[in-house]
Amino acid sequence: MCGIVGYIGTHAAAPVILEGLAKLEYRGYDSAGMAVFDGERIQITKSAGRLKVLEELTHDGATMPGVVGIGHTRWATHGAPSNENAHPHYNMNETIAVVHNGIIENYLPLKEKLISRGYQFTSETDTEVLAHLIDYYYKGNPLEAITKVMHRVQGSYALGIIFAEHPDEIFAVRKDSPLIVGQNENGCFIASDVPAILKYTRKVYFIENQEVVRLRADHMHFYTVDEEEITKEPVTIEWDSDAAEKGGYEHFMLKEMYEQPKTVTDTLMPRLKDGDIVIEELGMSDEEIQSIRKIYIVACGSAYHTGVTAKYVIEGIARIPVEVDVASEFRYRDPILEDGTMVIVISQSGETADTLAALRESQKRGHKVLGIVNVVGSSIAREADNVMYTWAGPEIAVATTKAYSAQLIALYLLAMKFAKVRGKLEEEAFQHMLEDLKRLPEQIEMLLSNKKKIQKFANRYVAAKDVFFVGRGIDYAISMEGSLKLKEISYIHSEAYAAGELKHGTISLIEEGTLVAAVATQDKLFQKTLSNMVEVKARGAFVLAVTNEGNTDIEKAADYVIYIPSTNPYFANSLAIIPLQLFGYYVAVGKGCDVDKPRNLAKSVTVE
Ligand code: G6P
Repeated sequence: MCGIVGYIGTHAAAPVILEGLAKLEYRGYDSAGMAVFDGERIQITKSAGRLKVLEELTHDGATMPGVVGIGHTRWATHGAPSNENAHPHYNMNETIAVVHNGIIENYLPLKEKLISRGYQFTSETDTEVLAHLIDYYYKGNPLEAITKVMHRVQGSYALGIIFAEHPDEIFAVRKDSPLIVGQNENGCFIASDVPAILKYTRKVYFIENQEVVRLRADHMHFYTVDEEEITKEPVTIEWDSDAAEKGGYEHFMLKEMYEQPKTVTDTLMPRLKDGDIVIEELGMSDEEIQSIRKIYIVACGSAYHTGVTAKYVIEGIARIPVEVDVASEFRYRDPILEDGTMVIVISQSGETADTLAALRESQKRGHKVLGIVNVVGSSIAREADNVMYTWAGPEIAVATTKAYSAQLIALYLLAMKFAKVRGKLEEEAFQHMLEDLKRLPEQIEMLLSNKKKIQKFANRYVAAKDVFFVGRGIDYAISMEGSLKLKEISYIHSEAYAAGELKHGTISLIEEGTLVAAVATQDKLFQKTLSNMVEVKARGAFVLAVTNEGNTDIEKAADYVIYIPSTNPYFANSLAIIPLQLFGYYVAVGKGCDVDKPRNLAKSVTVE
């Protein structure tokens, strides 16, 4: 997500921090800031906008003298991009400064508690809660205060912290958000990512979950969350700076695919409370949820595909009719929006011109719009009546993977919430579904670990001309996304079909060796899809099947089978898409395509 850089040593800290932050610019950010101890107090300069603004404000760091400092580039999560919400954040008497990557899930109750104890907040961020909470526990021993905070907060974090009373130290901790430290003859460094400090050292220590590090100019000490000192071994980074930006992955797309377990966790966990789903930002009372008569989902590209999945899930469990439309169609077709119709727009960037126009069209007709958006402060986020964020972090590869996975989670949560409030889902079934949701991250991780097998299979198809993806119900929605992933990055023609439609034309395109990817995760439709597989196989197709563990019957009709772990059928999309993403990716890599920046495509389509 955001970027962290810190330095303590013999040189001026601010220029080192600015240089390090510049190395993290590729990750995307909306504001930047620094805190430097100037010999008397901690000075903070921060601003919304590019790093250039911070460089100008500080005259390339010259206005912030001092040899201890922490800096940050922010990708907004809690609170829009603004000067106030930019990091670092102070405690009230400005003796502690904190930079933070990640999301504090229980920040609201903590904030309320702190306010009741007289703490005043100047930003909307979850990070400021940390600054005040450290202050609350600080009785002269930074390590003690920090570890107490670690015991109190839930969520993900990498933190850089400085104390005016301990000006010869920087503290850093992490949980589920990356953090590294390194050292050279001029000082010690912290960073959220290797490229930021590669210029200074290639020997880095990877901080593990719940570990704390105390840096001085000439040494570092590592501790557990229980304040026990531990020793760590450095790792020598062999990557060049280009590979380092990608965290050692060959492409951003692969890196982002591997971030999906975290993306799913970050989007899911903050909305689960005491065995229930709490979506505060929905802004709807139970009565309003009960009075929904129809839902319109409007989006483009992959976001549209998540909408197609959501139609099956919402109709299936909440029994509310759902219509899904591509935004460029919706906006011009004079849609019928009757009373009781809820409009949901879905967008990673929050800037897609057609989706934004669809939102405005709905509002013009007097309908409130819920935006499911990844980029905080984007146009759709600003204009929607309510916003449910997907916490996927910046996505750099044009072909979306992790934002898509996060959108699915947001939609499952909505569907379950609606189903429960409307009395369509028994408590027991609801709890089972929650358990299945919580298992998704580790199941996705397991599927990702199969990449070698899929790579081998994909290598056989780099010369393919046409590929067909087929499925029924949710499997059809999965097929649409699997097909898009392949075609957008590998330039191989591919199409998704509702398996039952094959006979109405497409089957005439099947020739000896044509690849047909059949998705069959829905038990009640399994036999039907199996028949369609047999039909195409009989006409010479090579059939790749994606199905649930245990469905070994499929081996009669398929030439190659990928099994996905067991989950609730409504969540199968989150698992079945993983091998299809990997397949598209490896076909494109095998063809030597520019995977992260496919020809003619843009990450954010701001024109219609
Ligand atoms: C572009 C991107 C797709 C994305 C679509 C919608 O075509 O390449 O990956 O799904 O726009 O973008 P949005 O930002 O609205 O989700």
